[in-house]
Amino acid sequence: MTKICCIGAGYVGGPTMAMIAHKCPNIDVHVVDINQSRIDAWNSDVLPIYEPGLQEIVNAARGHNLRFSTQVDQGIHDADIIFISVNTPTKTFGVGAGRAANLEFIEKCARRIAESSKGHKIVVEKSTLPVRTAEAVKRILAESTNGATFDVLSNPEFLAEGTAIEDLLEPDRVLIGGESPAAIQTLVDVYANWVDRKRILTTNLWSSELSKLTANAFLAQRVSSINAISALCEATEANVDEVAAAIGTDSRIGPKFLKASVGFGGSCFQKDILNLVYLCEHFGLQEIADYWEQVIKMNDHQKARFTRNMVKTMFNTVSSKRLAIWGFAFKKDTNDTRESAAIYVCRDLLRENAVLNIYDPKVSDEQIRHDLREAMSNDSGELNSVDRRLIEENVHVVSSKQAAASGAHAIAVLTEWDEFRESDFATIYKSMQKPAFLFDGRNVLDHQALKAMGFEVHAIGKKI
Ligand code: UDX
Ligand code: ADP
Repeated sequence: MTKICCIGAGYVGGPTMAMIAHKCPNIDVHVVDINQSRIDAWNSDVLPIYEPGLQEIVNAARGHNLRFSTQVDQGIHDADIIFISVNTPTKTFGVGAGRAANLEFIEKCARRIAESSKGHKIVVEKSTLPVRTAEAVKRILAESTNGATFDVLSNPEFLAEGTAIEDLLEPDRVLIGGESPAAIQTLVDVYANWVDRKRILTTNLWSSELSKLTANAFLAQRVSSINAISALCEATEANVDEVAAAIGTDSRIGPKFLKASVGFGGSCFQKDILNLVYLCEHFGLQEIADYWEQVIKMNDHQKARFTRNMVKTMFNTVSSKRLAIWGFAFKKDTNDTRESAAIYVCRDLLRENAVLNIYDPKVSDEQIRHDLREAMSNDSGELNSVDRRLIEENVHVVSSKQAAASGAHAIAVLTEWDEFRESDFATIYKSMQKPAFLFDGRNVLDHQALKAMGFEVHAIGKKI
């Protein structure tokens, strides 16, 4: 029986390993993590991450060929194939701060693999990494004192949160980069249990690593491009949704990823572009670095523009006004808030002295306050007393969209959760201050119907 160990039980490692276990009954899958509470959650009925369809797959495989534990060394020791799925956040300190990836966790993993391995192992990079990280991993592994030998493969994950299970079941492609044909074949054989062989692409290591960064940069660029056009639409009375639909029919452009919004979030887009920018600068390609950095600047501009627009519309002041924030996750169907546009919109509204009633169906009170504290802290991680008081006194995390809107001057839709579209807006309107403003940061509501009800509606890239 082939044995797989995955180091890191997060948004990538957890669902990916659950799918491999589900589809490959002959493979024993052991997911390990240093975080005990995360592992406890994976072993419970309340998984640490919310992802449609995940619970069912975990329930079916857990206890059979899928297990979660904190026994990192044992997991490494027993495995034939070791996936590294630990987090690689953007560095916040030292050289490359704010741009380069923090590879501390990857290096620690590689050292632990070197220490705990015997015989031959295939080590697979699953985390998104800067190009040529495999080289560093290989050098660390080569120092193993137990005579173990290793092949290193890159197998970037392309799943999107909220649709992870669908993306894993029917991936557009699986990408495997490496040097040893035998090692590549071993991993191809794992995926070929359910993925059409034609969709499994093999490349050299560096192409694989760079493809992941490039895919995310292209996707983010599309969102920033349509968001840039949304500002022009607002100035000219064109309608960004109509423009997106019109250009999307061009088969060379295609209809996906053209939804104007309050700005993209998530753990990947910004981090990967910053990585790309850092890499270009490292190789002296300043013009290329500047080109990609603009995608992030545009995204920051969109988030700030949304908040400014809210304040301006509400008679240039939101001080002491109660505002309903609908949605805090970076997109629907996930409890992940990393880089969510909502964090920055809420931060800027708090600094205008607004009182926020925040509701998200899957994000906890604790997580929301944690994110706001982090966003309002200075570079040394300190929170000044004014911002601390704003988070303590002006943030109310509530348990329904109706409770958030009750008595509020405005609703801002920041995540496109389906339940927001299905609201009883007539009752909600009655419960609000007048004029009742509605800012749709996702363009998901029926704007004309809301206007007819009495709301003053503001959307992205169109006049209502
Ligand atoms: C992304 C990539 O899609 C995935 O392939 C990669 O593995 C990880 O990064 P993810 O961040 O989970 O996935 O979600 P994605 O669906 O790409 O959305 C990213 C952000 O862009 C979200 O905040 C989303 O709301 C926003 N977005 C997306 C838009 O604003 N408009 C769009 O048209 C599409
Ligand atoms: P991603 O979205 O990339 O999956 P997450 O932050 O959700 O990122 O998950 C990464 C996981 O990796 C975390 O649960 C973290 O505890 C775990 N991790 C980080 N470093 C190590 C390590 N050295 N050994 C084991 N697990 C680790």
